[in-house]
Amino acid sequence: MRVDLSVNIASLTFKNPIIVASGPSTASAERILKCFEFGAAGAVTKTITYDVMMRVQPKPRMYIMKPGNALGNGFYSFYSVDLMSEYEPERWVEEIRRIKKSTLGKESVLIASIAGRTFEEWENLTRLVEDAGADMIETNLSCPHIEKDSLMGRTAALNPKLVSEIIRVVKKAASIPVVGKITPHGANPIELAKIMVDSGADAIVSTARFRGLILDINSMKPILWGGFGGYGGPWQLPISLGWTANIAMENLKKPIIGSGGISRWEDIVRFILVGATAVQICTSIIVGGYNIIRGMIKGVSEWMETKGFQKIEDFRGLSLKNIIPIEHLERRKIYEIIVNYERCTGCGMCVRTCPYNAIILGDNNRVRIGLECDNCGLCVSICPFKALSLERIA
Ligand SMILES: Cc1cc2nc3c(=O)[nH]c(=O)nc-3n(C[C@H](O)[C@H](O)[C@H](O)COP(=O)(O)O)c2cc1C
Repeated sequence: MRVDLSVNIASLTFKNPIIVASGPSTASAERILKCFEFGAAGAVTKTITYDVMMRVQPKPRMYIMKPGNALGNGFYSFYSVDLMSEYEPERWVEEIRRIKKSTLGKESVLIASIAGRTFEEWENLTRLVEDAGADMIETNLSCPHIEKDSLMGRTAALNPKLVSEIIRVVKKAASIPVVGKITPHGANPIELAKIMVDSGADAIVSTARFRGLILDINSMKPILWGGFGGYGGPWQLPISLGWTANIAMENLKKPIIGSGGISRWEDIVRFILVGATAVQICTSIIVGGYNIIRGMIKGVSEWMETKGFQKIEDFRGLSLKNIIPIEHLERRKIYEIIVNYERCTGCGMCVRTCPYNAIILGDNNRVRIGLECDNCGLCVSICPFKALSLERIA
């Protein structure tokens, strides 16, 4: 069975659900064409702004915590202070034209990310990128590096009235679709999604990076560039996925582009299962290279074939009904912890971890589960040898 990966967002067709998010991998026409060459259906330009301060990059500015995990496809965090595009908006006119003139550019969706300091700048940037040939506009109301009161990035997103007004201004000036990008930091993502949609956004992106601080205790200073940084990466996936599910449950009737922490094809499937139409990916493409896009397309296609889904729509939102609200969780089940003594090495990990002090190491380092066991399941999940399991007894 051949699967159809295409999705529609605000009258535009994406040949698959993968969009490369605004960042270093989309900082020029050349890099965006590379995204398309490796199979991405869409790409968002690095954010275009007239703000010169946001266009000059601090150096060094990128850092990975747990880099070994990044190589091994595990959870790691990406900490950086990458600001907006170094190119002035007029240069982007040339870059956008170049992309849209090429065959790859014509087959793919080009989204221009913009950030204005005034409503007039938002309006001017909207006209500029649309006239240059962008297919869609994304409003940067998520950049974690904006600290002072501003009409852009995460500080603007803290003020619902501003968010609404910015979306309205951009919508009024644009005849192409407008996407609102949600900050995860300090604002209520569900409320933001509602405000954006009520103000006319044609789709929303949930979500972007947090703002964080990594401190070196020897120098007693923040590492590398010396200030706050954007903090994201695969560790944030469960948070982004939870918010995406919550936004989908609101049934806002506009497409959701899921984002935040995607590092493998399974994550794309997860976002679609909770209601996303497409996804945006940034960090894992920086770390793993453009080629991971091909593997992701293959993985999603093969999963769909195995499950018998022909179109993305066939499984979009399917898992929402499987999310049980807290008040309906079954609380009367009783389990027994079964120890597989062939696997158990008596390492004592479960003994140290058990919050109920219910596990003891008996003779010959044999693990014994006491009556205090509350069936929390933590020992099963932490055992490095998969020697423990839960069996329902009532
Ligand atoms: C180094 C770096 C630079 C970024 N630059 C931008 C940017 O210029 N504009 C923007 O809207 N988002 C920017 N982002 C945020 C990403 O587009 C994306 O929303 C965020 O990283 C979450 O996706 P991910 O978990 O796949 O990285 C940047 C992210 C990183 C890591």
